[in-house]
Amino acid sequence: MAEPPPLQALIGSLVFYGRFAPSFTRIGYIARGLPFRPVKTPAEGEVWLVTGATGGLGRAAALRAARRGATVLAVGRNRAALDSLAAAAPAGGIVPVVCDLSDMRAVAALPAAPELAGRPVDVLVNNVGVLIRDFSRTPEGLETSYATNLLGHHVLASGLVAAGRLARGAVILNVVSGGLYSVPLNTRMLNIPEAHYNGFAAYASHKRAQLALADHWRGRFADLGVRTYAVHPGWADTPGVQTSLPVFRRLLGPILRDAHQGADTIDWLAAARPPEAIDQIWFDRRPRPAHAFAHTRQPAATTAQLLDLLNADAARLGLRTA
Ligand SMILES: NC(=O)c1ccc[n+]([C@@H]2O[C@H](COP(=O)([O-])OP(=O)(O)OC[C@H]3O[C@@H](n4cnc5c(N)ncnc54)[C@H](OP(=O)(O)O)[C@@H]3O)[C@@H](O)[C@H]2O)c1
Repeated sequence: MAEPPPLQALIGSLVFYGRFAPSFTRIGYIARGLPFRPVKTPAEGEVWLVTGATGGLGRAAALRAARRGATVLAVGRNRAALDSLAAAAPAGGIVPVVCDLSDMRAVAALPAAPELAGRPVDVLVNNVGVLIRDFSRTPEGLETSYATNLLGHHVLASGLVAAGRLARGAVILNVVSGGLYSVPLNTRMLNIPEAHYNGFAAYASHKRAQLALADHWRGRFADLGVRTYAVHPGWADTPGVQTSLPVFRRLLGPILRDAHQGADTIDWLAAARPPEAIDQIWFDRRPRPAHAFAHTRQPAATTAQLLDLLNADAARLGLRTA
């Protein structure tokens, strides 16, 4: 996708940030969070799988679950960071699982990993997400953020179900972003070729597609009684924001949420399991409309086309998904 002209981009940014900054930052959390009670529901006996658990929101969500008594399969590619996470949690609460989540064959192998050999997963948090400014390709030939943010989530959820590793009545949480408000569902913006790559548009499009996937899985995995939610954490000061959005962070740093405030609705949803809402995102413990601008209500692709793309890309790597 070509970059918009500078003035148009500036106006677009001002409209977007002006509209959402009060709500998505700590200001919104404090205003809405006054009546929130800490999540204390015991999670003993629950098995969680959290992707991208080595830092930011994933780390916070994993710690919160482990402190409520869950056993958390914490997936990341940095062994030392996983060990440090385990050391910060109650003994045995965190089980480190090393995996590069941009490597689709490695993700497909996760359900058979020895660390997952116990009880099936009760709570799957598809948290890993990256905004990559400069185009890069994985050794498997996929644009890296597409593989990490979207295809991997599909490969993992499908693989867990196929292997009988997702528990009956499990909860799946797809961590989306307010960035989805800027784009409609569009399969052409998912595995973007180098010549047209724009990291922001790619990231926003992956997030819109994650929402569609959450709605799709609800029906697809209905026989398991699975509950699926798309959850927006707000804007939190995390390592990912620090490296991918330095200007944004410099401007809004003092009012960004901390990682635990960002992870609050993830933790709350897994405990409260409220009725699901189609084409809605959960934010600060309530479902909110998934559209803020008229143009995103006109999708450029259907969910069926999204599934065709994901399944075809997985099949090219010899992986079966559904
Ligand atoms: N922070 C926000 O304001 C915000 C707002 C809206 C949505 N979100 C969403 O929330 C989720 C978490 O964001 P975050 O800000 O917490 O991100 P983050 O600070 O970058 O943390 C993500 C974690 O994922 C890991 N990771 C990245 N690529 C990986 C890979 N290929 N394999 C294994 N691990 C990998 C990173 O570890 P490495 O050190 O190995 O890279 C990092 O620890 C994302 O889906 C993001 O889109 C965040």
